[in-house]
Amino acid sequence: MTVHIGSIAPDFTQESTEGTIKFHDWIGNSWAVLFSHPKDFTPVCTTELGMVAKIKSEFDKRGVKVIAVSVDDVPSHKRWLSDIEETQKTKMNYPILGDSDRKVAKLYDMIHPEANDTLTVRSVFVIDPNKKVRLTFTYPAATGRNFDEILRVIDSLQLTDKHSVATPANWKDGGECVILPSITDPKVIAEKFPKGHKELRPYLRMTPQPNK
Ligand code: BEZ
Repeated sequence: MTVHIGSIAPDFTQESTEGTIKFHDWIGNSWAVLFSHPKDFTPVCTTELGMVAKIKSEFDKRGVKVIAVSVDDVPSHKRWLSDIEETQKTKMNYPILGDSDRKVAKLYDMIHPEANDTLTVRSVFVIDPNKKVRLTFTYPAATGRNFDEILRVIDSLQLTDKHSVATPANWKDGGECVILPSITDPKVIAEKFPKGHKELRPYLRMTPQPNK
């Protein structure tokens, strides 16, 4: 089964560095980021897991839980934790799923055999409180991800869920937004966007971020 944007995130029960995780129960009413890494004790993965620990408060602020996974087992993850903490100068503060049976990797299609038969690629899934997948992306093993980009997308998702806007290229929280093309009634526009808007084209209308 392919996990698409809009799919319900597949549920699972799996062991982690913080005990047994029943995935949907663990998400609860929060948002979640599930991200895979190829292998424990590898350099890029060490920097990635350390980075997520360092910026975890940014995920917390947005009501987002984070969880990592690879096909290594929990004892291996636990042995690796001190390396992450020492080299990345941080304290690990979120669970890593053991997945030596590849249950999660298979459910989320995290093994791409043309890249590697056995290791997970660098997949990311952002999941909302309704357990719906809202973002997926996949990076190759040799390229570490930009976790600020994941935070940026979460900001966009949480904003566009509440206001009738979309966010343009390279938008960051606080930047100008675009009014949804479906909003055409001038009275509704004036009501929803009291700070005003610029019409560059009938379909391209810029407005200050509504919740700022
Ligand atoms: C790494 O995390 O450094 C890595 C893992 C697998 C292949 C290449 C790099």
